[in-house]
Amino acid sequence: MFINLIDHADQTRFQLNYALLRTRTGRLLELLNQQDIAVSIVLLDDQEMAQYNQTYRHKEGPTNVLSFPAETNEELGDILISVDTAWKEAGEKNIPLHQHLTWLIIHGLLHLLGYDHELSEAQAELMLVKEEELFQAIQHIHSGGKTMPQLAINVDHIATIREARGGAEPDPILAAGICELAGAKGIVVHLREDRRHIQERDVRLLRQTVKTRLNLEMAAVKEIISIALEVVPDLITLVPEKRKELTTEGGLDVMSNEKKIRKTISRMSEAGIPVSIFVDPDAEQIKAALDVGAAYVELHTGRYCDAKSEQERDREFHLIEQAAETAFASGLRVNAGHGLDYRTTTRIAAIPVIEELSIGHAIIARAAFVGLDQAVREMQDCIDLAG
Ligand code: PXP
Repeated sequence: MFINLIDHADQTRFQLNYALLRTRTGRLLELLNQQDIAVSIVLLDDQEMAQYNQTYRHKEGPTNVLSFPAETNEELGDILISVDTAWKEAGEKNIPLHQHLTWLIIHGLLHLLGYDHELSEAQAELMLVKEEELFQAIQHIHSGGKTMPQLAINVDHIATIREARGGAEPDPILAAGICELAGAKGIVVHLREDRRHIQERDVRLLRQTVKTRLNLEMAAVKEIISIALEVVPDLITLVPEKRKELTTEGGLDVMSNEKKIRKTISRMSEAGIPVSIFVDPDAEQIKAALDVGAAYVELHTGRYCDAKSEQERDREFHLIEQAAETAFASGLRVNAGHGLDYRTTTRIAAIPVIEELSIGHAIIARAAFVGLDQAVREMQDCIDLAG
């Protein structure tokens, strides 16, 4: 599948999330059984769109979307979208811009596949039904394809035990395999600059062995960026990193590190690596994550887990719940994690828009007593209880 997304008018004022649009187009092509074909999405302004509308349809003024089928079998064609018009229409419908752009991409793809609402009322009805079906399907996939988030296991602390003796055991590669066999849907590792647990060798081997999804947590620093670009994980999660901290202490301050993060995302995007940013459940950080082009946020659940009273826990939970809704409505995909254990996970798993939970310490700690396979299965039970 090759998706060529071109922002022809370079419309930075709309803060478009290209990674999200590309991911959604990919999912739509899969849903339409067109995964082996290339498609181009060209984002224009009203002026450019008006010219195409005049030249090819002899109509004055801009329109929202135009499709041009390709002449070869390897390509589906080009979908031209006026972001100016999409923006106006999204405002009138009171829906997020990325949601409306998704509708327009669906509309354009269906035209390329031969649907045409202008032919007859029956054709118009057929196309609308298909549009709605695809939109529902993509929202469904977007929220994890089911109500329960998927369990991704952080195996850093298997490496912590190994590093305690500086030898080869226990091996996080083997641990990742056991987690997957026990049902985990993803493996997470944090390659820290100080290499206190996970080593470069681990990341490279995991890339070859992980059968689910490999999520590389990392700071936005030159050395680790180069490794990520070579390894090409399924997702990278940008986290703050301080040398003396015991573990990640809070979300990344996206606003203060905007330039560095934007640049990192753009390099990852060129390599086809989606980026998540680990943020506190805070509307401003979420907006900043969207603005710099992240496809996901991972909401920091640490304060909810560490709460000293039920009241405080409730307060922190509601912040996460609200932040998840805000992020999802703005077009971001939502993961969550940090500090989750066998008591705190079920409630977070019940938040419908969360796709994935990243959990490490609690599972590895329990594995010391009951074995890794059982520790993973018990955590999966905690997630299933939310259903
Ligand atoms: N998410 C992020 C961003 C993290 O940094 C960590 C810790 O490495 C986790 C999730 C997992 O946290 P825990 O080990 O407390 O489950």
